[in-house]
Amino acid sequence: MNESLAVEVANLTKYYGELLAVDHITFSVREGEIFGLLGPNGAGKTTTVRILAGVIKADGGSAHIMRHPARSLQAKQMTGVVPELTNAYPDLSARNNLMFMTELYGISASRGKKRADQLLKELDLYERKDQLVRTFSRGMKQRLILCMALVNDPQVLFLDEPTSGLDVRSTRLIRDMLREFNKNGRTVFLTTHDMEEANQLCDRVAIMNHGKIAVIDTPMKLRSAVSGLHSVEVSFDKHIGTEALSGLAGVNAVRKEGDRLRLYASEPSVVVASVVDYARSTGLRIIALNILTPSLEEAFVELTEKGEIHGN
Ligand SMILES: Nc1ncnc2c1ncn2[C@@H]1O[C@H](COP(=O)(O)OP(=O)(O)OP(=O)(O)O)[C@@H](O)[C@H]1O
Ligand SMILES: [Mg+2]
Repeated sequence: MNESLAVEVANLTKYYGELLAVDHITFSVREGEIFGLLGPNGAGKTTTVRILAGVIKADGGSAHIMRHPARSLQAKQMTGVVPELTNAYPDLSARNNLMFMTELYGISASRGKKRADQLLKELDLYERKDQLVRTFSRGMKQRLILCMALVNDPQVLFLDEPTSGLDVRSTRLIRDMLREFNKNGRTVFLTTHDMEEANQLCDRVAIMNHGKIAVIDTPMKLRSAVSGLHSVEVSFDKHIGTEALSGLAGVNAVRKEGDRLRLYASEPSVVVASVVDYARSTGLRIIALNILTPSLEEAFVELTEKGEIHGN
């Protein structure tokens, strides 16, 4: 077994009845890495995380966390988990939820309180620490769950869609906390639908689909494989045909989408400049102008069609 691996998975398999949810996957995560598992709904991400966190049992293969079997007590003591659905008690206050966790881990009351207050401050919940969790917004609950996952100072943190559906502020607090946690050489394993989240946070990303890991690479390499899919979306105050814009500098292709035009480009900033020049010279007014990065779905489709992702 490799000394520097935080997560080591070999041939891992999980069935739900007839359905093969995790299909003989093999990969590893180095200590100190931020690793992302990306994939569409139903890909098997949550199932994989739940096996790694020791919540459910695999049907085949092996999963080790810091060299201990995933379901062992040693592994669980070194692990923090932020599950897909909230696991805080709604009728306890934020601080009492944390104190409950510290008791579970056998941390003394005085140390527990210190740790709880520190985490509540870092995730900007301290002011609300005495309120019942049932009065919390979704973003506040999710931040509390992260505090709860961190009380035992884990070596490896598993998070299932940690920022899905949250606003900018909650998302930023969570991402900053993950970076901070990672600075101390700790390992982060997260799932996400969001290519941009993976891009901002992860050292490496695995794309999962239909229970299989299709590709593992750095976000940079995955994105460069689909850079032609960057696009600029524009709408003008008057109707403009696609042909008028297809000759602008930097534009690879133009598609009409509702009342907008989408210009595909390798360098979106070049296209933005040419669209602005075009509007100025023709007296058109720009109603909206957005740069769109490839979605996971687009990246996935593109990589599959190029044959860079092999489903089996
Ligand atoms: N408890 C369960 N019983 C039966 N089937 C399940 C169960 N949990 C998940 N599945 C099925 O296993 C497959 C993988 O589900 P999983 O929740 O792991 O996907 P996911 O990648 O996390 O999806 P999402 O992005 O929607 O969260 C899906 O087809 C799902 O319907
Ligand atoms: Mg899921």
